[in-house]
Amino acid sequence: MRTISWSEVNGGSIHLLDQTKLPGTIGELVIRDPKELVGAIQRLSVRGAPALGVTGALGVALILRNAEAENWSKESIAKSILELKNARPTAVNLAWGVSQVEPLIEGGSKKVLEKALALADDDANSCREMGRIGADFLVNKLGEKKLRILTHCNTGALASTEWGTALGVVRELHSRGLIEEVFTDETRPLLQGSRLTAWELAQAGIPYRILPDGAAASALFSGLIDAVLIGADRIAKNGDSANKIGSLSVAVAADQVAVPFLVVAPESTVDRSIDSGDRVEIEFRSDSEVTSFAGVNTAPVGSKTYNPAFDVTPARYITAVITDKRVYRVKEGEAL
Ligand code: MRU
Repeated sequence: MRTISWSEVNGGSIHLLDQTKLPGTIGELVIRDPKELVGAIQRLSVRGAPALGVTGALGVALILRNAEAENWSKESIAKSILELKNARPTAVNLAWGVSQVEPLIEGGSKKVLEKALALADDDANSCREMGRIGADFLVNKLGEKKLRILTHCNTGALASTEWGTALGVVRELHSRGLIEEVFTDETRPLLQGSRLTAWELAQAGIPYRILPDGAAASALFSGLIDAVLIGADRIAKNGDSANKIGSLSVAVAADQVAVPFLVVAPESTVDRSIDSGDRVEIEFRSDSEVTSFAGVNTAPVGSKTYNPAFDVTPARYITAVITDKRVYRVKEGEAL
């Protein structure tokens, strides 16, 4: 099943696999109202940069369906599209997905929907391509042997349309018999690693173990890891890459022990309008994500927090960026 799909039933709706419920419940959200879609993006029912790109494009089709049925003004349409585009700031893919269909708005929802569905297919194809390019790169670098891969957050089918980016490379390596084990950081505070990546790996029959984020450096220094594979939410021209908070600590540790650190993302995640990562807007999230767990307080009431959802890894720590087009050796100064 695809993480995101469109249905024509009852005038058109977006169907999302609700990621906040996993791994306990495989539940589907059916969204007809554009405001509900913004809410689903903000509470991470749908998440992951490529998935947000497709959601952005389909979201515009949903807005136009509502507008056509209720005779909205041009201003109301523009306002609703802006709310969607700005629902989360860091992953460039959300605004990219919207911008891909914006030139077609005059043609109505049918034209926009056709393009959005084509983007979903493109995303699925580009994930397979990244998988092949990334797996070939690692085989060339490390030889044809079973690998122990460390990953952070969720970069799988759930974070894209299907297959995944960094996890797509893992799937490709597994299909070639080249995965010994995947070490998946649990990814505090929302546990995308233990709730989502571990679930996908279990479904795919790929051996894995979960480690607390704080154990990643120790696993690297203990020689347990052959390569690190992560995704990205926005990549600057010089290769600096924004990704889930905690990625930077893993990159610095991997660099110290000369373990390859690869960022795997589609070209749509590359933001060539920014020269370096210091221009990436980082999303900050609520205190309660840090001070409570499953609705139970885990810190004194009123505690302040520091809760950035992403960090930026400088290119000097990144062995290479793998896209659906090619490998960029950013550590060696190659620009995107
Ligand atoms: O806050 P999230 O869960 O949307 O963050 C997602 C990530 O940081 C992913 O690693 C990134 O989007 C790459 S997904 C292929």
